[in-house]
Amino acid sequence: MPPLTAVRGFKDILPDEMTPWAAVEGKARDLARRYGFSEIRVPVAERTELFARGIGETTDIVEKEMYTMEDRGGGKITLRPEATAGIARAVMEHGILASARTARLFFIGPMFRYERPQKGRLRQFHQLDCEIFGDPGPWVDAEAIDLLWRLLSELEVPGLTLAVNTLGCPECRPSYRESLVRYLEGGRDRLCEDCLARLARNPLRVLDCKNPGCRELAVGAPRITDSACPACRDHFRGVLDALDSLGIAASVDPLLVRGLDYYARTAFEVLAGGLGAQNAVAGGGRYDGLLKALGGPDLPGIGFAAGLERIALLLPPQAPASGPDYFLAPLCPEALAPLFRLAGTLRAKGLSVAADWEPGSLKSRLRKADRAAASRCVVLGGTELEGGYALVRDLKTGEQIRAGLENLEPLAGDPGAPAPAAG
Ligand code: HAM
Repeated sequence: MPPLTAVRGFKDILPDEMTPWAAVEGKARDLARRYGFSEIRVPVAERTELFARGIGETTDIVEKEMYTMEDRGGGKITLRPEATAGIARAVMEHGILASARTARLFFIGPMFRYERPQKGRLRQFHQLDCEIFGDPGPWVDAEAIDLLWRLLSELEVPGLTLAVNTLGCPECRPSYRESLVRYLEGGRDRLCEDCLARLARNPLRVLDCKNPGCRELAVGAPRITDSACPACRDHFRGVLDALDSLGIAASVDPLLVRGLDYYARTAFEVLAGGLGAQNAVAGGGRYDGLLKALGGPDLPGIGFAAGLERIALLLPPQAPASGPDYFLAPLCPEALAPLFRLAGTLRAKGLSVAADWEPGSLKSRLRKADRAAASRCVVLGGTELEGGYALVRDLKTGEQIRAGLENLEPLAGDPGAPAPAAG
């Protein structure tokens, strides 16, 4: 029987690959603190209805990409394809906005979308998600973008560009939608099959279709920035001015519509070179109607999510994680028990210890200690046991001392031990 493999699009992240992940997560936590965010963890599955109502019935995510199943009680649940809807539910369910006017929450975890896997696109992928509830903006919109931009800049992700747009509000979007549909109807023959279906149900999505015919048509389409109501224009101007005051260069992309229906007003994406077709490192926007659509209060929100796999692909090479403080090397069976006790003593002091609990030759133990990138190797063989000490070798300098077996304190008057012959 051939050995089992992982599910397509679900990737192992191996120990050797963890360094950039640790860098991203460490930086994310540091910035979350600097910007006043608290961590939240929401369940990996939610009622399907939450995503249908939150993300929108006619989005690609809800129509084609969700992992939905019936649980044994007959309820329909879905593995979260994104975190915003789940966090919004949690905020309402726990009355988080009842006691505080605003809430700033961040979350790191896996998401699931049934997409065609390729470079930078997986079926299980990870996001850093940041959400701010209760602040209508526009300053906070720029602050959210600033957080994202700082995260990516401090991580030294190369080749970043920021695109922003406004998607209007329930006041001005319907008339924009009408004029857009009128325009698109005039070029029906250039639209792909998907966009012909979108025309009736979700015409804004035609604007960011990658199909060449749809793209050509989209370029000449009426622009939402031109038909937004005065309040939306003021808001957008406010966001752009605030970004400008921070020195963050944003380009307005009137074709940026995002793939989730909860957005209103500000929408943004950060793109990076070097990722091929999947060039969006992060995306987000304002979702002022979301809480209400989920049966909660009419309170605004804004946030973004960054794709951790995509960031990890782009990070400059990281210094490898450092190895243990000590590698314990028993050369004979009698050395096992004292070294086992020593491991406990060292770990209780907060030191990191790796060991090989199979006695062997000095040469092979030292090779293992090197491979583990340990700082020092503790060698214990018959001679050392007889003398009641252990040899501690500094693996960087090659220096060696005799040390007490119980605590590795250097023996008084030890002139430095001769290097044991590697055999
Ligand atoms: P999104 O644009 O669907 O937005 O996803 C955000 C980021 O997740 C993308 O820019 C990308 O880096 C990463 N991503 C998405 N799909 C995949 C995939 N299949 N494989 C690898 N990475 C992927 C959202 O999810 C919104 N919830 C963002 C948001 C938060 N808006 C407001 N608050």
